[in-house]
Amino acid sequence: MTTPTLEPCSPREWQLAVRLLAMPADANAFGDVFGGWLMSQVDIAGSVVAVQVAEGRVATVAINAFRFVQPVLVGDLVTLYSRLLRIGRTSITVEVEAYSQREQDPGTVHRVATATLAYVAMDREGQRRLVPSRWREEAP
Ligand SMILES: CC(C)(COP(=O)(O)OP(=O)(O)OC[C@H]1O[C@@H](n2cnc3c(N)ncnc32)[C@H](O)[C@@H]1OP(=O)(O)O)[C@@H](O)C(=O)NCCC(=O)NCCS
Repeated sequence: MTTPTLEPCSPREWQLAVRLLAMPADANAFGDVFGGWLMSQVDIAGSVVAVQVAEGRVATVAINAFRFVQPVLVGDLVTLYSRLLRIGRTSITVEVEAYSQREQDPGTVHRVATATLAYVAMDREGQRRLVPSRWREEAP
């Protein structure tokens, strides 16, 4: 039996950040998955990369783009990928893409959302701090 590996990957490469099933409790009054639920998962997926680059606590400062491309249905397997776009002095901008596999058609993958979010590196006192210099030096 193989064991899972947690090899660190470059934040500039797309990486699997979140994978989960859309549950009945995530649905709106019409039985479709609530947009706010997917936005929450996108924020978490983006923060996976931001925390890696900040090497610690971050806060979401902006969602600069968000597009719901197709609906998410209850029972879908939802997978979110994220990657680093830009590093500033204290900010980290991340791109997220979300995909759904329908329960009735698991062979087909639908892109359901795309987003660009910005995070700010925070210290223990809740104040902004610089992104660690080794990451800023790498910035293109
Ligand atoms: C995050 C926070 C500390 C930033 O403080 P601030 O005084 O507003 O800071 P600034 O306006 O100078 O921006 C800080 C950084 O964010 C960047 N930023 C601000 N708005 C941005 C936007 N819309 N897009 C991209 N980057 C943005 C700035 O360019 C700056 O980056 P840099 O240091 O790399 O140049 C503060 O806004 C805050 O606490 N917000 C609430 C965060 C939060 O609670 N999020 C979760 C909500 S539930």
